Amino acid sequence: QRNVYRDTNAVPRNFDSTTLHLGLKEGQIASRILTVGCPGRAGLIAKVLDKSSPIFSHTSPRGFTTYTGTFERTRVSIIAIGMGMPMMDFLVREARQLVSKPLLITRFGTCGALCPDVAVGSVVVASPGSVSVMRNPDAFLPLPTPSGTSADEIDPIATGGAPHVRPPYLVFAPQLADPVLTQALLGELKEQLGSEHVRRGMNVSACSFYSSQGRRDAFFDDRNEDLLDVLRERHPSLASMEMESFQLLALARASRESVRAAAASIVVANRPTGDVCDEARLAYLERAGGEAMVRALVRFED
Ligand code: URA
Repeated sequence: QRNVYRDTNAVPRNFDSTTLHLGLKEGQIASRILTVGCPGRAGLIAKVLDKSSPIFSHTSPRGFTTYTGTFERTRVSIIAIGMGMPMMDFLVREARQLVSKPLLITRFGTCGALCPDVAVGSVVVASPGSVSVMRNPDAFLPLPTPSGTSADEIDPIATGGAPHVRPPYLVFAPQLADPVLTQALLGELKEQLGSEHVRRGMNVSACSFYSSQGRRDAFFDDRNEDLLDVLRERHPSLASMEMESFQLLALARASRESVRAAAASIVVANRPTGDVCDEARLAYLERAGGEAMVRALVRFED
């Protein structure tokens, strides 16, 4: 009977040498990576790859779709990872394991805008970087009762005082994007889409699409009524909100200088005005913006 995989205390591999989540092995992924959320968007952007070179494509059982080919004769991978910080963690760590050269990773996702003047159908480049907001489950523990067990007895290593004084959301300090790669993204996106449709701003990555993005849902105790105001007060340059860029930038910082990263996102919704992008504009931005993102990546001199 064979084990399901090997090397559980490092970066595990399947027995065909592929990593567990991306489902890729050496040679199937480039050192220049554009990551997106949606597999459809990856497929759309992959249409710009050179037709003269072979294009490798693979969808892993864990939901990662990869296209590796060339653009202007430079190797590049376009990888759809789905949503959320753990998916970004799988991508960055497994890609790092599979490629010997320094990595350049950019993200082209979708986001909600946090101020009325960031229009739906525009693109925000995360500059200078991204903060993060996480729901703090300790704040939702039951309050101590006179007769019964207190939350602190249930959770003796909890920090930050009793549940009623713990903040329901924790905000983490900015992680900075690579300034040179960011400038390259801004240049190509402005050239392709028109400078009036591209701006820079601080991003915030949330741990949920719902509670920590301030969405209301009466089925859950979320205590998030003033969350977006608190975030805007703390970081006045906040423009966009999504769920992945912070993790990408934080891992690049932790990578002992072996990963350079930057991020941009299409504004699909404006939270203060309630506007939502139409389908045709989104499809245009995915294709044209995606091509600009690939061009920035392959022309970047590292
Ligand atoms: N992605 C998010 O995480 N939030 C939004 O509001 C839109 C896209």
